[in-house]
Amino acid sequence: MQTIRHVNALRALIDGQRRAARRIGFVPTMGNLHAGHFSLVEIARKHCDFVVASVFVNPTQFGAGEDFSRYPRTPEQDAEGLDRAGCDCLFLPEVDEIYPFGPGQGVRVTVPGLGEVLEGASRPGHFDGVATVVARLFNAVAPDLAVFGSKDYQQLLVVRRMSRDLGFPIEIIGAPIVREANGLAMSSRNQYLDHAQRQQAGIIHAVLQSMCSELASCDAPIAAIEMRAAAQLVRAGLVPDYAVFRTIADLAIPAPQQSGDLVALIAARLGGVRLIDNMECRC
Ligand code: PAF
Repeated sequence: MQTIRHVNALRALIDGQRRAARRIGFVPTMGNLHAGHFSLVEIARKHCDFVVASVFVNPTQFGAGEDFSRYPRTPEQDAEGLDRAGCDCLFLPEVDEIYPFGPGQGVRVTVPGLGEVLEGASRPGHFDGVATVVARLFNAVAPDLAVFGSKDYQQLLVVRRMSRDLGFPIEIIGAPIVREANGLAMSSRNQYLDHAQRQQAGIIHAVLQSMCSELASCDAPIAAIEMRAAAQLVRAGLVPDYAVFRTIADLAIPAPQQSGDLVALIAARLGGVRLIDNMECRC
């Protein structure tokens, strides 16, 4: 696996691969990689001949007081894991390579509506930062396909919308959530939890499962299921930000007895750590 730090060198490498008729897959990450990330590389590998992964802790998607400076940075470990997972090229840029005018001065990409609800409401500006960096990375890598984890369900929708709206000819794949043995969705932020909290956090998955099975019976009003879910989280010692159903295509609030495909989404705090998870379900 090659490690490349500059966009020009990356473009030269990708041009060569494209001339050899290779299909290019891309996995953007912020590093501190775990099995969930490696599964994205494996998916890209199955669909493509040449896989690029980026490791870039993007300053513009962190709000004031969030964990940008303490976000875990483990580049050597990440490079070893990516190599083992079948990645061909690690793109490891510095901030000025992605934001030549500085992160505060660059052109920003906003996804109205979708980027403003749920996570966007709790973390104002977060999805502007995500859409901006993903657009910049798409522009640098110019892949045929990109893989994103569906643990960040809203992020996946925001990226799809941004990509479609800006006309990137890139197929976007949402990869299944990879979970710990107790159901906790894998996330780099799980390492902020101690052992007992990690066990406790398994409740999020259990609550999503009960939300989905209650919805499947089609007889309880959606708002009642949501209230029970929030209460279950509180009883388990978490502080829910939301435990809600939304429509899968655009995260709209469903009608009180809406049938069809929905997604159950939870964001909750445990200690100082904000955890998110989701599950698609059907009435
Ligand atoms: O999901 C992430 O790790 C980040 O939000 C992403 C997509 C790499 C953009 O910085």
